[in-house]
Amino acid sequence: MSPRAYPIADFLEASPWAGLCLAADDRILAANAAARALFGSDPAGRPAIAVLRNPEFHAALEALDSGAPSGRADLTIAAPGGRGHFIIHVTRLSAKGERLAFFEDRTELDQAAAIRRDFVANVSHELRTPLTALSGFIETLRGAARDDSTARERFLSIMDREAQRMMRLVSDLLSLSRVEAEEHRAPTQSVDLVALARRAGETVRDQADGAGVALVLGPAPAGGAVVKGDADQLLQVLLNLLENAIKYGGGTAPACIDVTFAALPHEPKLRGPAVALSVRDHGEGIDPLHLPRLTERFYRIDGHRSREQGGTGLGLAIVKHIVNRHRGRLKITSEPGKGSEFMVILPAAPPERAG
Ligand SMILES: Nc1ncnc2c1ncn2[C@@H]1O[C@H](COP(=O)(O)OP(=O)(O)O)[C@@H](O)[C@H]1O
Ligand SMILES: [Mg+2]
Repeated sequence: MSPRAYPIADFLEASPWAGLCLAADDRILAANAAARALFGSDPAGRPAIAVLRNPEFHAALEALDSGAPSGRADLTIAAPGGRGHFIIHVTRLSAKGERLAFFEDRTELDQAAAIRRDFVANVSHELRTPLTALSGFIETLRGAARDDSTARERFLSIMDREAQRMMRLVSDLLSLSRVEAEEHRAPTQSVDLVALARRAGETVRDQADGAGVALVLGPAPAGGAVVKGDADQLLQVLLNLLENAIKYGGGTAPACIDVTFAALPHEPKLRGPAVALSVRDHGEGIDPLHLPRLTERFYRIDGHRSREQGGTGLGLAIVKHIVNRHRGRLKITSEPGKGSEFMVILPAAPPERAG
């Protein structure tokens, strides 16, 4: 049976890409659902030039008319369905001059490539600064400061700090890539967030004391605070949030950080019972302008201050990925001058079956 026994529209519909069938006179004979979405209405019956004005597209069609079996055009389309980068693949369909055009959407790939490029540029930049400092000090220690023991001690301690910073950066990059690699595997342990918060509190106690900040842990909710999770990763979430609250939320000491828990019988976005953990500081707060970008890699409100404190700019990006892996939500709210609240909402663990 010849394939033409089927209507061409059925073939078009099978493609995930927007697709058009064009007559010899460039009128559109049929369009699939993706094309209807792209152009905002059904373009069937209209001349192609009225739907898509790009000269590259029409040049590719003309090349078919002069004998080429197929062709492509690389173009940016501003259509009702959104602006995007497409590679259009055109093929001759029959001797009657009908042609098919499929629109390969490259927009997301372009975006991913841009993110990758930015990321590599950011990492290189973050590493270059401490490396430049280190090699400068090595040179000084070999030359001018060779016999100056006071200068040597001072330089060595700066070098130590820079080396620590690089180490933290590399270890944050590694945790980020580990979390990303596991993001699609749901965690399976049952984790008690209250016990975990106590452990995290112990870990940052010295840092908090040094900053004159008191950690105040709230009581466990009546139903407990057990979630299905990965204990190591959730500990990392707590540590990153507590460290931030100590570093940026201290305000004028003495200050306090409140860690509270709540059981939510039904969290609408998670569609089920959940546990909310919140880390609230009473520091200077965050301008709402920054909130949407805070979890981006290397996004800092004050880069200088973050680096001074040994920050890598990756802490909240790691938090966000871990929360995503746990199918949870991260809610950041802040009132400038009054402090910030970082709330992590995680699906509650189903009750243990008896026996
Ligand atoms: N509790 C907070 N109060 C005010 N600003 C904060 C707080 N937590 C995070 N930030 C801001 O968000 C930025 C990103 O945080 P993070 O990803 O942990 O990186 P880092 O702490 O290494 O700078 C910080 O540099 C800081 O500007
Ligand atoms: Mg941090």
